[in-house]
Amino acid sequence: MSEQPDRTGTPGGPPGPRPAPVRMVTPAARTIPVPLHHVLEGALIAVRRGLQHTGALEEIRRETGQAVARILPGPAAARVGASLERLHLHADTEQISAIRTDLETRLRPLAEAVLRDVARALEPQGARLYLGGHLGIRVMPPQRSLAAGAPAGLEGFLTPRDAHVDSWFNTAVNTVNLWMAVGPVRRGNGLVFYPEAYRRAPRHDGRHTLLPGQHTGPPMDIELAAGDILFFAADHLHASQPNTTDETRFVITKRLCLGPPRYPRHATGWVPYADPRLLGGPLEPLAALRSRLTGGGVRDLLRAWPRRRPRRPGRSGPVADGRAR
Ligand SMILES: [Fe+2]
Repeated sequence: MSEQPDRTGTPGGPPGPRPAPVRMVTPAARTIPVPLHHVLEGALIAVRRGLQHTGALEEIRRETGQAVARILPGPAAARVGASLERLHLHADTEQISAIRTDLETRLRPLAEAVLRDVARALEPQGARLYLGGHLGIRVMPPQRSLAAGAPAGLEGFLTPRDAHVDSWFNTAVNTVNLWMAVGPVRRGNGLVFYPEAYRRAPRHDGRHTLLPGQHTGPPMDIELAAGDILFFAADHLHASQPNTTDETRFVITKRLCLGPPRYPRHATGWVPYADPRLLGGPLEPLAALRSRLTGGGVRDLLRAWPRRRPRRPGRSGPVADGRAR
C-alpha cells in the first residue's frame, strides 16, 4: 500500500494524527536514563522536566524575554511578559522572525552548556558521544497568524517543514535529536512522526522532498510540557506540524551522535560533531577532527573546492545546502 504523508488531518478529510508512543522518563540526581541505542532503534523517549533538571529553563525564558524587549516596542513587550505562547498576539511575523534570529546568537552558549550537561548525565552508553554544533531555535506561531510574505528559508524554524529525515541535509545517520520544549507543545503544534517509515530509507527528490507513492504509515503527533526534552533518531521521518492551536510554540534543538558520526553518501551538506573530551582545553581546535576525517567530511571539502577556485565565465560550481533541519 502506498500513501501520501498527511500532517494534520482536515475536517471532512482523513483523520488527524494519533498520539505517538512517547516513553516518559524521570531524571535522577546525576543521571538521565535514556538508552540512546533504543532511540536509534526508533524509540521516542522524553525526559520529564529535563530543562528544569539542568537548571536552564528559567535562563532560556529570561533571555527570550530580553530578546522580545529588544525587538518590540515597550508596551507590546510588556503585554507579552512571561507568556511567550502569546507572542503572536503582540508581534507580527517580521518581528517574531527577528526575535528568533536574535536568540540564535544569544542562546548559543547556554544551549551548548545544556548539551554538555545532558551528555555527561547520559553516560555510560557503551560508545563515545559526539556533540553537534547545530542549534535550532524553533518559534512557530499559529499558522493563521503568519503573514503571507513569511521569510523563506525558515521551514522548520518559523514555518512548517514537510516530511523529511535529517540526514538528507547534513546530519550523521547515528544522530539523536534533543527537542527541548521551552513552552508547552500541544497536539496540533508540534512534530509529526511516521514510525512505520523508520529505517525504510524513504526516498527523496535529490533535494529534501519526500517522493510520493511510498508507504509511510499513519502520522503520529506528540504532546510535551514546558521543560520536557524529547529524544528521537534524526532519521525518523518527521515533519513540523502546521500550528493549528492558539499558542506560539517554542522549542530549542541540539544534536549528538552515539559513536563516531557516520554520514550518508546522499547528504547535501556536512556538519561537524565535537569530541567533548577536547572542549575547553588547548586541543579544542581538534575537537571536530574525528567528524572531518570521514567520508562525509571529505565529500564536503570536495563540494566546496570548486567554489574556492576562481570561477571561469559560464561555469558554476555545485551548491550544497548545508542548513540543518
Ligand atoms: Fe528535522
